[in-house]
Amino acid sequence: MGFPLRFLSSLSLCLLALLLHRATVTSGCFSMEREALLDFKAGIHDTHNRLSSWVGQDCCAWEGVICGATTGHVVMLDLRNTNITDDWALRGEGMMNSSLLALSHLKHLDLSFNDFSGIRIPEFIGSFKKLRYLNLSSTRFMGGIPARLGNLSSLYVLDLSYALHFSSLDNLDWLSHLTSLKNLDLSWLNLTGAPDWFSSVNMLPSLQVLSMSYVGLKTIPASVVHVNFTSSLTVLDLSFNNFDSTLPKWLGNITSLTQLDLHYSGFYGVIPDAIGDLGSLTFLDLGFNQLEGTVPRSMVDLRRLKELHMPRNQLTGNLSGWLEQMTNLIILDLSYNLFNGSMPSSSV
Ligand SMILES: *[C@@H]1O[C@H](CO)[C@@H](O)[C@H](O)[C@H]1NC(C)=O
Ligand SMILES: *[C@@H]1O[C@H](CO)[C@@H](O)[C@H](O)[C@H]1NC(C)=O
Ligand SMILES: *[C@@H]1O[C@H](CO)[C@@H](O)[C@H](O)[C@H]1NC(C)=O
Ligand SMILES: *[C@@H]1O[C@H](CO)[C@@H](O)[C@H](O)[C@H]1NC(C)=O
Ligand SMILES: *[C@@H]1O[C@H](CO)[C@@H](O)[C@H](O)[C@H]1NC(C)=O
Ligand SMILES: *[C@@H]1O[C@H](CO)[C@@H](O)[C@H](O)[C@H]1NC(C)=O
Ligand SMILES: *[C@@H]1O[C@H](CO)[C@@H](O)[C@H](O)[C@H]1NC(C)=O
Ligand SMILES: *[C@@H]1O[C@H](CO)[C@@H](O)[C@H](O)[C@H]1NC(C)=O
Ligand SMILES: *[C@@H]1O[C@H](CO)[C@@H](O)[C@H](O)[C@H]1NC(C)=O
Repeated sequence: MGFPLRFLSSLSLCLLALLLHRATVTSGCFSMEREALLDFKAGIHDTHNRLSSWVGQDCCAWEGVICGATTGHVVMLDLRNTNITDDWALRGEGMMNSSLLALSHLKHLDLSFNDFSGIRIPEFIGSFKKLRYLNLSSTRFMGGIPARLGNLSSLYVLDLSYALHFSSLDNLDWLSHLTSLKNLDLSWLNLTGAPDWFSSVNMLPSLQVLSMSYVGLKTIPASVVHVNFTSSLTVLDLSFNNFDSTLPKWLGNITSLTQLDLHYSGFYGVIPDAIGDLGSLTFLDLGFNQLEGTVPRSMVDLRRLKELHMPRNQLTGNLSGWLEQMTNLIILDLSYNLFNGSMPSSSV
């Protein structure tokens, strides 16, 4: 008699467990995660009622919230402000309520173009272990970058461009741990006080896109033992810096580059022959520097180049000899240099 009863009770326990499980996710959203999102909402100013859909049980149906199809957990929080012309920014301290940590499955966090003036980037962002995409572009946080950000070892996109307002960084040590990074944008941060930036960036072997425009860099190593991203980096933007240096020869080792932007960066001296090693380049901008001398013959090896910008330098010599061989060029700007001879007719 005892056997069937026990059997029955374990069966009903199973059923009960199943029912309980359904109760927590039946609305398509885990209650802990819903509470965390509501705590977060409670602390922010949302002038345009962008979060008006954040009511009811099913947080997976809320604006900007995306849940995993199989797990039901919140995996993506996309609160990007897409209307900067009309003050659609979310504001306020609650923005960074640590209750958000309940979203432990979060892979994608986009808070770009919202306004966190006066708040520091919270340490706990470094605790979203599964985070792969973090976009804090134009968020106007104050203070530094928490070192704990370096714990996000799965991160492959990090956009911190204009994420800090009135703040400067003295090192990028935290960066060197983000070894999965493919896309890094640090433009408009103040890195004047981070002279060792290159060794941190050079620890990122999978980097494909690196933007460090307008960050006040003053140093770039003339020689390095090994450039780690020589076969992955396709886009390098170091424009608007103050290097006051010659063009480093190791740039020629990054043969995977398709776009190189070094305009307005205080480079002087001659363009090294090694430029010709960058045979995949489609875009090259060396404008507004103090480059001089003749354009090296090796320039004709840039056979895929579509855009060449070198205005406002002191480049000399004869244009014909190399320019007519650059047959794929669509946009060419060589204005304000000291070239002599005339434009080869084939390129006019
Ligand atoms: C998060 O928000 C909740 C609800 O508004 C509040 O009770 C809690 O104190 C906040 N926590 C932090 C760390 O701001
Ligand atoms: C931005 O906001 C204004 C005013 O609310 C609206 O007219 C406009 O359509 C919005 N633009 C976009 C791209 O949503
Ligand atoms: C970050 O967001 C902005 C818009 O808010 C977008 O233009 C930019 O491309 C994003 N960055 C990355 C690396 O996806
Ligand atoms: C996270 O980062 C902090 C500060 O950099 C460090 O002390 C801690 O050990 C790290 N935790 C993990 C799990 O890596
Ligand atoms: C950048 O930070 C340095 C201090 O490290 C400061 O002297 C400088 O004025 C800052 N530059 C800008 C543009 O804020
Ligand atoms: C990158 O290169 C440096 C030498 O410049 C080396 O010490 C370091 O181990 C390399 N890092 C990786 C991740 O390959
Ligand atoms: C650049 O490439 C050359 C030839 O492959 C190699 O000998 C040299 O070590 C490389 N330099 C750097 C800085 O990676
Ligand atoms: C053109 O420039 C080259 C190199 O700067 C110089 O040797 C040559 O004399 C110049 N020719 C004319 C006609 O100015
Ligand atoms: C420029 O080079 C072409 C062909 O190499 C030559 O015919 C021409 O005279 C040169 N012009 C100047 C000003 O040196």
